[in-house]
Amino acid sequence: MDTTVIPTAALRIDAQRLWDSLMSLARIGATAKGGVCRLALTDLDRQGRDLFTQWAKEAGCAVRVDEIGNIFARRAGTDDALPPVMTGSHIDTQPTGGKFDGNYGVLAGLEVIRRLNDAGVRTRAPIEVAVWTNEEGSRFVPVMMGSGVFVGAFGLQDVLAQKDTEGKSVGDELRKIGYAGTEKAAHFPIKAYFEAHIEQGPVLEASGTVIGVVAGALGQRWYDVVVTGMEAHAGPTPMELRKDALLAAAGLIQGVNRIALNHAPHARATVGWINAHPNSRNVIPGAVKFSVDLRAASDDVLTAMDGELKALCDALRGEGRVEVGLEQVVYFPPQPFHDEQVGAVRRAAARLGYSHQDIVSGAGHDAVYLARVTPTAMIFIPCKDGISHNEIEDALPEHIEAGCNVLLQAMLEQAGV
Ligand code: GLV
Ligand code: MN
Ligand code: MN
Ligand code: MN
Repeated sequence: MDTTVIPTAALRIDAQRLWDSLMSLARIGATAKGGVCRLALTDLDRQGRDLFTQWAKEAGCAVRVDEIGNIFARRAGTDDALPPVMTGSHIDTQPTGGKFDGNYGVLAGLEVIRRLNDAGVRTRAPIEVAVWTNEEGSRFVPVMMGSGVFVGAFGLQDVLAQKDTEGKSVGDELRKIGYAGTEKAAHFPIKAYFEAHIEQGPVLEASGTVIGVVAGALGQRWYDVVVTGMEAHAGPTPMELRKDALLAAAGLIQGVNRIALNHAPHARATVGWINAHPNSRNVIPGAVKFSVDLRAASDDVLTAMDGELKALCDALRGEGRVEVGLEQVVYFPPQPFHDEQVGAVRRAAARLGYSHQDIVSGAGHDAVYLARVTPTAMIFIPCKDGISHNEIEDALPEHIEAGCNVLLQAMLEQAGV
């Protein structure tokens, strides 16, 4: 047995092993265009969870699952009564998702544990890797579901009752895939939380920077909008007598886009999902449902955007042709991360000799909720052309490696040896 002791500052992760693990996980739900479709709580999600659990057990971790299906893999510390230093992310994907969003943060955490095992390093505090349920919010709303329940942002029962568009509930689907765990879905003391993630935007690539030191994340408000008009025949019904819900929705969608432009450059507004009824070529649409996603770096701006959306809906109602329903389904304010942990990321990047810059996350992440209960920071790496939530999402092996080395060193600093 090799008993050479490697000073922890010199520890580097096994980049090939991390890459190979990413590519293995990406085969579960692989799409023809090179991406991944592994929607939350589907059989493919179960296969991904099973693979992670098997790997974590092979790495000597104790694995627990809570009532909302969050998985926790724990490597004991020499002082096992200390709260763990935690990392994690998600392995559910968008319908046209990539190989790295979420999966990188989970497998980077596993690689940290594997590398500590190889080197025989025992940390004082335990190390935990969390796999959060339904981060994407694509199949089931709300987004960041598992981490949100964990920190108490939503009630467990409310979330278990949420249904997908086919009427299948979170609770039933969790049981079906075997991940309705027994551990209480509530947070426990955690020393610090780190999450490694691809940037999902173009900033780091444009500046040629390897590590994004994430200072915080934009706040978000999501809504369901329902526009109700009247179905009628496309031929006999004169233009001025129609109650065309899709035409009205189209005007509203233009207005949603203008809301973000009113608050440029740091506001965002997106209509990403739309359903027209009855969706038939020669029927004037009678009802349209669509999503609105508003984001901003300040809560005041987000509140102003909310007011502008309500005013648009009021104006459309005032025209008297259609009814408009507006329901907010997600809200979280902008979340700054914690100075000491953000500092740990910056210090690790500097010690490792990686170029780095501070950055704000435009995307939501489980870290946004974890920051409510434990000091938190995130590590970003560039992704190709800044593209994510797309099957062509890509990242360079050397950036994958660098972000994981930063994660390893930041976690070692916080866990102690
Ligand atoms: C999460 O994927 C988000 O939409 O920010
Ligand atoms: Mn993600
Ligand atoms: Mn995502
Ligand atoms: Mn996300």
